[in-house]
Amino acid sequence: MSPLHVTRTLPEDATEAALRADVEHGLTDDPKWLPPKWFYDARGSELFDRITELPEYYPTRAEREILADRSGEIAAASGARTLVELGSGSSEKTRYLLDALTSLAAYVPVDVSESALTQAGRALVAERPDLEVHALIADFTAPLDLPATPGPRLVAFLGGTIGNLLPAERAAFLAAVRALLEPGDGLLLGTDLVKDEQVLVRAYDDAAGVTAAFDKNVLNVVNRELGADFDPDAFEHVAVWDARREWIEMRLRSRTAQTVKVSALNLAVEFAPGEDLRTEVSAKFRREGVSRELGDAGLELTHWWTDARERFALSLSVAR
Ligand code: SAH
Ligand code: TRP
Repeated sequence: MSPLHVTRTLPEDATEAALRADVEHGLTDDPKWLPPKWFYDARGSELFDRITELPEYYPTRAEREILADRSGEIAAASGARTLVELGSGSSEKTRYLLDALTSLAAYVPVDVSESALTQAGRALVAERPDLEVHALIADFTAPLDLPATPGPRLVAFLGGTIGNLLPAERAAFLAAVRALLEPGDGLLLGTDLVKDEQVLVRAYDDAAGVTAAFDKNVLNVVNRELGADFDPDAFEHVAVWDARREWIEMRLRSRTAQTVKVSALNLAVEFAPGEDLRTEVSAKFRREGVSRELGDAGLELTHWWTDARERFALSLSVAR
């Protein structure tokens, strides 16, 4: 069996410094916000995996349907020898691609969640002894230093995670992805599509409360890492559809007037009753918008596949 290579491109103290800067910036802003990458400690990754199995959370099933139906076409169009996956999590749906890409030599999963990466990586090297798995613990919004593996390269970014970036961040991100590619290399991008508001809101506010627990987990991360005293029960999870910007906003709404102390930052943060802390956006897309944003980054959309109910899209674009 070839060994699992794990590279940490972020030193632990850099992660801590980034968390401090983000929390200080977000909690002193008006309205208050926290960036979503801090959801994913071991418990956050586990809660996300439970979200993907909820009856209300359709994106995972819809994207899996497309991958199951189209992996052969994707493999034929890309001919990739290296698959780089950003925000790979459990790499569960990726198996359709790994099975279809018959010339594949290397798989490079990239994630901030060390626990998700090592778990997925260990399972994969056991299942696919021929494959070189080179896991990168890294922030995909920062410059990536990829291992030297054979081309052509296919970068996959699944799960609709691109929707968790704000529009300006998205443009910078796509330009950075383009810079990782040689002309002819590809990007396989999963995007959740605009649809009925009730369906969208329920996907981010499920009846069993798993998404609420996931959302509040970011408070546990800040408590543990920065010595804050957030009481998760003092906040209510809400999901709101912003029809103008076509995104779902996840927020934690303060149930009362309260002061939260963040001891590592020497910071006291006042919340008014009903005041919201924005924890994440999840943008929903249309084909024209995806095609335009890819084009602006120097990527040409060549394929667009949806599930039968047209809830989710997978697009393949090629670096020009
Ligand atoms: N691709 C999987 C998981 C999607 S959840 C799926 O489709 O089901 C989003 C994943 O991105 C999580 O595993 C999370 O840890 C990771 N992630 C979020 N922000 C990140 C960042 N800035 N850099 C690297 N990984 C990130
Ligand atoms: N990439 C996922 C999405 O936008 C992340 C996610 C799913 C999420 N459910 C969530 C983030 C609930 C915060 C809260 O669909």
